[in-house]
Amino acid sequence: MKADMAKILFDEITLQNRVEQLAAEISRDYAGKNPVIVCILKGGVIFMTDLIKKMTIPLEIDFLSLSSYGDSTKSSGVVRIKKDIDCDILNRHVIIIEDIIDSGLTLNYINEYFKQHKPASVKICALLDKPEAHKTEIKIDYVGFEVGNEFVVGYGLDYAQKYRNLPYIGILKEEIYN
Ligand code: IMP
Ligand code: MG
Repeated sequence: MKADMAKILFDEITLQNRVEQLAAEISRDYAGKNPVIVCILKGGVIFMTDLIKKMTIPLEIDFLSLSSYGDSTKSSGVVRIKKDIDCDILNRHVIIIEDIIDSGLTLNYINEYFKQHKPASVKICALLDKPEAHKTEIKIDYVGFEVGNEFVVGYGLDYAQKYRNLPYIGILKEEIYN
């Protein structure tokens, strides 16, 4: 798979160090709150598992799976819930774990959906953010790294379901898309 990469943006050590910093920050902010960490499948799963292993406070985990319509490299923001969370988030502190915020439309939808269940709070933690791609006003509480408006893969992020298991994040060679 490495031969398919044009460039590595964040290597394994860089990712692990940043995840450790985020875990420390979130552990401090949520001390005594027993938060529910909701992973957005499938992209958030690698980040989430690394993050929670480095967190030092009690927490619960849950998973939300969405399917978005249309093209796999663009988001329409029109999503359907494929697998809902199992736990009751009423009066709970929820932290949503996303791989990347692109247009922000998916996250906007999730945020509104969660608020209907009256949690004590909802915060968003995304490994990557593409600020130039936002199409909606969005507040991301914890961000790993900012990236430009380009398509990235690895560490949970896929292209046509491939490359999620790379331990680093990079950009694919042009010819891979053709
Ligand atoms: P949004 O609704 O445009 O913010 O889309 C967010 C979702 O699109 C992410 O959770 C990813 O699954 C996917 N996505 C957006 N940008 C990329 C990328 O550069 N690589 C891989 N997946 C991406
Ligand atoms: Mg995703």
